[in-house]
Amino acid sequence: MKFYFAPFHGISLRLFRNVFFNHFGGFDAVMAPFVAAVPASHLKPSYFSDTYPLSDTLPLIPQIMGNNAQDIADTAAYLYDLGFEKVNLNLGCPMPKITRKRRACGLMPFADEIEQIVDRVCETSPVKFSLKMRLGMFSAEESIAILNRVNNYPLDEVIIHARLGIQQYEGEADRQAFRTCYQVCRLPLCYNGDVFTKEDFCSVTWQFPNLRAVMLGRGMLQNPFLLEEIKENMISAEEKNKRFAVFYQDLISAYQQYFPCQTIIVNRLKELWKYFYHFAPLSDAGLQQLLRQQGDAFLSATCQLAEKSFI
Ligand SMILES: Cc1cc2nc3c(=O)[nH]c(=O)nc-3n(C[C@H](O)[C@H](O)[C@H](O)COP(=O)(O)O)c2cc1C
Repeated sequence: MKFYFAPFHGISLRLFRNVFFNHFGGFDAVMAPFVAAVPASHLKPSYFSDTYPLSDTLPLIPQIMGNNAQDIADTAAYLYDLGFEKVNLNLGCPMPKITRKRRACGLMPFADEIEQIVDRVCETSPVKFSLKMRLGMFSAEESIAILNRVNNYPLDEVIIHARLGIQQYEGEADRQAFRTCYQVCRLPLCYNGDVFTKEDFCSVTWQFPNLRAVMLGRGMLQNPFLLEEIKENMISAEEKNKRFAVFYQDLISAYQQYFPCQTIIVNRLKELWKYFYHFAPLSDAGLQQLLRQQGDAFLSATCQLAEKSFI
């Protein structure tokens, strides 16, 4: 079984990844947040500043988004030439301003177009290409239609977040609907969605024993020790607090070296505390109170929390 770290647009950027994976290792690969596929004439190394030059400690899979087969094929081939063995296509983002333009999850109802994209990429370059999708935008029948079209292509793998686009992040991952994908898919398959505990992981892999990989997302942000726990490491609360506090200090130092202004640093950290507060543990009201703090007050409150969160 392989483990991937999910992409988080605006959160799991290079600086965060490098600090986080220095402290919480064990993943086989990390997927970078998406960038738009662009025409060949716009491609230059600096466009991929979050992923290139490579500085990640773990194998990194860049992710692209778009709906133009030629642009996607050119962007994937360019990334391959920059040294990335694998490239992923985002078919999962549910944000209306993106799906309205038939991109990401908004492309899922159009299996023909997705097949054209896959066909063009496979024809253009030896890059190992994969799809990260949901069950569908409106209905789980969409993923089945797509799988039936792409099953015979030499795709590297298919990653499925077991929700519909219209659900956004609400409700629960639908493992029953994922089962149909599992039965139809002849490509290596990765499960994604709502793995928050070791028990969640065990029940997913018990239900779907032939998965190639599981992708962990919010579960890792809500408990950075999740993968170690899944891999049987029992870690005492005392050690967790010690390790988390050191990680958090390193993250603040990295942000302080890179960002010119404290407001940017605090805003970035606030995005993270929307996940960290689960283990802190803070009530919703406690989180709102924390998020209202500014500058040094926020930094010192969160450093104190980091030292005594795990109980
Ligand atoms: C703030 C945020 C940003 C995300 N950015 C991306 C992204 O850039 N690309 C992508 O494929 N998925 C993105 N996702 C989806 C996650 O990668 C993942 O598929 C989703 O959270 C479900 O997995 P989980 O339940 O384990 O978190 C994002 C999710 C969130 C909450």
